[in-house]
Amino acid sequence: MIRSRIAGIGMYVPEQVVTNQDLTQYMDTSDEWIQERTGIKERRFAHRTQETTTTMGVEAAKMAIARAGITAQDIDFIVFATLSPDYYFPGCGVLVQRSLRMKEIGALDVRNQCSGFIYALSVADQFIRGGMYKNVLVIGSEKHSFGLDFSTRGRNVSVIFGDGAGAVVLQPTQEAGVGILSTHLHSDGESAEILAMYNPGTHANHWLEQPLAAFDTAEVGEMFMSHAMIDNAQNFPFMDGPAVFKKAVVKFPEVIMEALDVNGYKPSDLKMLIPHQANLRIAQFVQQKLGLSDDQVYNNIQKYGNTTAASVPLALCEAWQEGRVKPGDLVCLAAFGSGFTWASALLKW
Ligand code: UT7
Repeated sequence: MIRSRIAGIGMYVPEQVVTNQDLTQYMDTSDEWIQERTGIKERRFAHRTQETTTTMGVEAAKMAIARAGITAQDIDFIVFATLSPDYYFPGCGVLVQRSLRMKEIGALDVRNQCSGFIYALSVADQFIRGGMYKNVLVIGSEKHSFGLDFSTRGRNVSVIFGDGAGAVVLQPTQEAGVGILSTHLHSDGESAEILAMYNPGTHANHWLEQPLAAFDTAEVGEMFMSHAMIDNAQNFPFMDGPAVFKKAVVKFPEVIMEALDVNGYKPSDLKMLIPHQANLRIAQFVQQKLGLSDDQVYNNIQKYGNTTAASVPLALCEAWQEGRVKPGDLVCLAAFGSGFTWASALLKW
């Protein structure tokens, strides 16, 4: 039986550290509020012009490729997950192909926000299991700092997010009980608008219950992007935080248990749970609900904030670098976010 395994893992975070205290220069917030509600102490922000979502992804990819003991020329396929792409189109995958001077391989972009990396991993896993590819590069990367409202108006969203990237190289293995055992992907679009960035977009206000004023007199171009949207901060992400929180604490345990049940395991069998780093309170709730010890759950949101598609590979990479994930260990990756989408992957390292 062919399964895929993580043959190499890498990460990249920008140099610039932004503390909670730093954010108080721009908005009415406090270190105390942010730490108490989210667990975040600091995050990294990319260099404004020298770094992009793609360049950070490329740095993480270089590390993953080197650790897999191959070269960029050996990669057969790229899957890139992000919600903050360099361009509206084309996607970041082709920019990685160009930056790493790869062969003319396929490059796929995945748009599943916080669940993006696990969705991307699942896609890559199918290509390996099916025998089509031998080396698939999976990247999750975000440059959130370019698209947030840093005034008090946007504080419920902007204090949470940070920049960074993670990447893995997947390869086939026939070693018994090793590799990705299963992946589980879900969505429920009923609440798509409660965590979303509406503009620019082609929605023409079709889905929004309360029409945005910016569209009233607009011509088509104006409906895509207008001065009024910018003036009214409608070009920034919107989030109903408490509503997302309530759903997350239900779906996280559900999708983790799904992965364990399908493979005949119990929470106590887990060496490490790597939850998407959305909010330390969510991770703690999930830990308690599943009866996991502190040693069984990895959190690094304190240092990086919520890095969306990058958060799972960033946490997995650090856990591995610290020796907390070793060969033979049962590891569960799990995520929940905008869409809503949620997902898990169970693997034997
Ligand atoms: O990764 C993608 C998925 N996203 C998530 O999973 C996020 C899930 N949600 C959350 O993590 C939490 O809902 C937040 C951290 C976003 C917010 O925490 P909360 O405990 O749900 O706070 P809240 O939104 O209910 O706001 C409580 C109060 C409000 O003031 P009033 O109305 O009680 O006077 C907010 O205006 O806190 C205020 N507030 C802030 N105060 C200081 C909101 N943001 C801030 C801030 N600093 N940054």
